[in-house]
Amino acid sequence: MRRRVIWGMIYGYLGINLLMFLRFFFPRALYEPNTIFNIGYPADFSLGIDQRYLMTNRVWIIREPDRIFVIFARCTHLGCTPEWKASENKFKCPCHGSGYDSEGVNFEGPAPRPMDRAHVDLDPTGKLIVDTSRLYMDDPRAGVNQFNDPGAYLPV
Ligand code: FES
Repeated sequence: MRRRVIWGMIYGYLGINLLMFLRFFFPRALYEPNTIFNIGYPADFSLGIDQRYLMTNRVWIIREPDRIFVIFARCTHLGCTPEWKASENKFKCPCHGSGYDSEGVNFEGPAPRPMDRAHVDLDPTGKLIVDTSRLYMDDPRAGVNQFNDPGAYLPV
């Protein structure tokens, strides 16, 4: 009986070590979505705010009569993801209450500036390509406004 218990402990020890060894082949990595992604043709978007890519890529696509631009959905206060409130025609941050108009410009709460816009361009086939690693900002306090730079919007 004593021999069985000792062998059981040895096999248990070796088994746990084998599991720990195998665990190294499955690193605890966070797989984030690609920062450059295709969102389809400009004609796929009707006037207003499109939330199709909010969950997957954290952006809103804004279609206006003469242009398309992409708002990166990150509050400029502390980085929460605001929500689009269609009935109030504004983005509202659930964390501390900042409000942004339909173009992402702050007008209430602690947010210091408008939400950033992501780079948007056309690929050779005419599809829209968004790059959230290239952001355009508007910071009135710093005297910076990149919202009219090429790439911050796409004329349509
Ligand atoms: S993080 Fe949005 S208001 Fe504070």
